[in-house]
Amino acid sequence: MKIVLASDHGGFDLKESIKLHLAELGYEVLDQGCFNQQSVDYPDYGVLAAKKVLEESCLGIIFCGTGIGISIAANKVKGIRAALCHEEYSATMARCHNNANILALGGRTIGVDLAKSIVDAFLEADFEGGRHQRRVEKIMKLEEGR
Ligand code: RB5
Repeated sequence: MKIVLASDHGGFDLKESIKLHLAELGYEVLDQGCFNQQSVDYPDYGVLAAKKVLEESCLGIIFCGTGIGISIAANKVKGIRAALCHEEYSATMARCHNNANILALGGRTIGVDLAKSIVDAFLEADFEGGRHQRRVEKIMKLEEGR
């Protein structure tokens, strides 16, 4: 299974740790950068990740200092539902109820072990559909200006 990753410099270290974690679990990682700690602009990487997730029809995980900026940017791309999570329950619900296709994490706000646990929760959960489908469709209609 493919997983798209992307970060700015503030999320770079955590991205690298999660990349190793995903490789150990057998995922194929599609790393969209950045590739070192040099300062970059998080919207560029949020959009790169978002487009790759849509192209590959897979899930993504994005990182910046707080996870806020890069998730805001990714959510501007039609078809993306990026969820910023700080604990496992939200990550599970982001998949089960919101059909989130991107998880956003803050490299400066959470530790590596918690991040791994949040990633596992996100990847192990599935969208439940049903009444949640109707609600997600309402979000998608907003993207059409309806
Ligand atoms: C970069 O310094 C920082 O602003 C960025 O990583 C992120 O936290 C923005 O939301």
